[in-house]
Amino acid sequence: MTRRFDFLVIGSGIAGISFALKAAQYGKVAILCKTTLGESNTSFAQGGIASVTYKPDSFEKHIEDTLIAGDGHCDADVVNKVVTEAPSQIEELLNWGIDFDRTEEGLFDLHREGGHSEHRILHHKDNTGYEIQQALIREVKRHPNIEIFERHFAIEILTQHHLGEYVTHHTPGIECYGAYVLEQRTNYIHTFLSKITLMATGGIGRVYSTTTNPDIATGDGIAMVYRARGIVKDMEFVQFHPTALYHPGDRPSFLITEAIRGYGAVLRTQNGKEFMYKYDERGSLAPRDIVARAIDNEMKTRGHDYVYLDVTKKNPEETKVHFPNIYKKCLEYGIDITKDYIPVSPTQHYLCGGILVDMNGRSTIDRLYAAGECSCTGLHGANRLASNSLIEAIVYADAAVKDAVKRLDEIGINEFVPDWNDEGTSLPEEMVLITQSFREVEQIMSTYVGIVRSNLRLQRAMNRLEILYKETENLFNKSVVSREICELRNVISVAYIIIKHAIARKESRGLHYTVDYPEKHKTDL
Ligand code: FAD
Ligand code: SIN
Repeated sequence: MTRRFDFLVIGSGIAGISFALKAAQYGKVAILCKTTLGESNTSFAQGGIASVTYKPDSFEKHIEDTLIAGDGHCDADVVNKVVTEAPSQIEELLNWGIDFDRTEEGLFDLHREGGHSEHRILHHKDNTGYEIQQALIREVKRHPNIEIFERHFAIEILTQHHLGEYVTHHTPGIECYGAYVLEQRTNYIHTFLSKITLMATGGIGRVYSTTTNPDIATGDGIAMVYRARGIVKDMEFVQFHPTALYHPGDRPSFLITEAIRGYGAVLRTQNGKEFMYKYDERGSLAPRDIVARAIDNEMKTRGHDYVYLDVTKKNPEETKVHFPNIYKKCLEYGIDITKDYIPVSPTQHYLCGGILVDMNGRSTIDRLYAAGECSCTGLHGANRLASNSLIEAIVYADAAVKDAVKRLDEIGINEFVPDWNDEGTSLPEEMVLITQSFREVEQIMSTYVGIVRSNLRLQRAMNRLEILYKETENLFNKSVVSREICELRNVISVAYIIIKHAIARKESRGLHYTVDYPEKHKTDL
């Protein structure tokens, strides 16, 4: 079936829904998600959302902290935009009914996290993302101009390529007309035509074997845009969160928020020694790349699988009030965080790179915008400052709506897009081929493309991945389309781009550290 909308939004996290709610004032909106509205990285966010709220904090300080964390690779104009527009976007969240914690005096209770020089993190207990996601879902469900399509998987964006025209890599002038979308209940592939499309598909966690991201994080949007010849940037900057709960087999890994270190928790080796001051004068509150690398080094030199996070010196009742979910979750594993040290290790958490967009959220493909974790705005540079991603997502969703509505009347729906053609395909014979290949990608990436890299490891990863790529393309071309085969294809593409960009960066900067080029270039690439 062919469906027509003014706006097609692929993704129902904070970027997708906040865009949809604003765009719906100007036209009909379709919002797609591949499982349910609530399953997103957004729902998992713990620490909170960074925004300058009270003195002595200032825009200048937030800007400086973001630039320092980004290690010389941020776009200063973008940093200025996000930081200065943050308070008005927080107002919008409050208008949608999101409830941030307040002190007894009625002021916002602000947390502090690694790399922040001030307390500036608005939060709802230690499950801010869930609170935001639920409020957005309430709003989107009651909007008359928004149609919601759950369990609808976007396979490809539609461009001139589907009209039969030949387009070379990165040719300017590529346009997006919507997407082919698999309805998972019926296995039917619909054509969604739109004037404007927003890519808001979130993260890439499933490229690695341990991640804090939920299962939906397979980098689909990035892979779709790359296949459509759009520009994807900064993919070597994969962020590992220093403190995921060490509990082998958990998927996703449970996060122990950085806010707990802002509150006073410290990192210790397994024999109880505090070690962070050896690496950085900010100790346990240094930016994430530094803390993750320090933990990785302690674990490797000592042959340990984890280090400890110690919050036992803080008032137990206060700890329970501030971090109720972490307290409860750890207790389920027999760890009372008010008395016991918490075993933690670094785990894939976030991607700083993604679909290149300008200050209006426009990608390099016309009529296609991107926002949220799948995009690369230039805010995070080589390393994201904690709690800067939720705010980036709403600031850019807002910018994208404002830009898109100016052009809406000039754009028509392209009626020449043919239906999906699945001639010559059959059901995949063995599902095990897909699941096994998935595991192999995760293993390759975790073993060779983790926190510390080298030329040899990256080249080995590339060689292994090439085999998987060929096998999977072969399988895809012969198989009836399924979510599983598409996701496998997408994680292989994302892994390939990460390795390619990592090989190209012949220096160490932010999250990209390689033993072959341990120094940073004087000027950024
Ligand atoms: P998501 O919220 O991930 O939404 C992606 C959407 O895309 C989903 O609806 C999914 O179904 C849909 N989708 C994906 N592929 C397809 C497809 N092919 N077809 C259809 N739909 C598709 N950031 C902060 O700023 N502060 C924090 O405290 C914080 N804590 C975090 C804690 C955890 C455990 C994690 C995992 C992340 C945290 N982050 C935090 C990062 C932040 O949550 C994410 O970067 C952000 O929520 C991403 O939002 P998004 O809208 O871009 O994507
Ligand atoms: C955390 O709560 O530590 C995560 C914050 C973030 O990823 O920004």
